[in-house]
Amino acid sequence: MAGSESPVITADELAERLAPILSKYLGKEGAVISLLQDVQEEFGFLEERAMTAVADALRLPVSHLYGVASFYAQFYFEPRGRNIVRICTGTACHIRGAPAIQTTLEEELGISAGETTDDLEFTLETVNCVGCCALAPVVMVGDQVVRRKELQKVINALKETEE
Ligand code: FES
Repeated sequence: MAGSESPVITADELAERLAPILSKYLGKEGAVISLLQDVQEEFGFLEERAMTAVADALRLPVSHLYGVASFYAQFYFEPRGRNIVRICTGTACHIRGAPAIQTTLEEELGISAGETTDDLEFTLETVNCVGCCALAPVVMVGDQVVRRKELQKVINALKETEE
């Protein structure tokens, strides 16, 4: 991450947002993954204090929760941007210019792949083949596949909405 801080959440807000999740899962066997998914959906990532509160509620060491979560690529331990930009670096996209697109996007957003902008607007990631090689080179903004010629327009539009 590019030096950004976690969004400030008060202890009261944390407890309030966690309460419905805990009441949904407490006492249910084998529900840790689903519980962590809900926590991530609520906070955008596995917020450290939320993890501690969940561990306390489950009467488990927090290290156990981190051990489970770190096994799955779907979980994030740092805040992520509101817009997730993924550059496909699979073979077809690589051959058709993904490295140049990555350089352009890194310059445009001021971060490297794997980082999030300080204002939490953008997270830039690389991924392997997203399954639409015929459209290579492919960039995804959220769930939307964006072709190279539309990319600048989409990024500009997203940047404008943040201003
Ligand atoms: S290699 Fe990029 S979509 Fe397949």
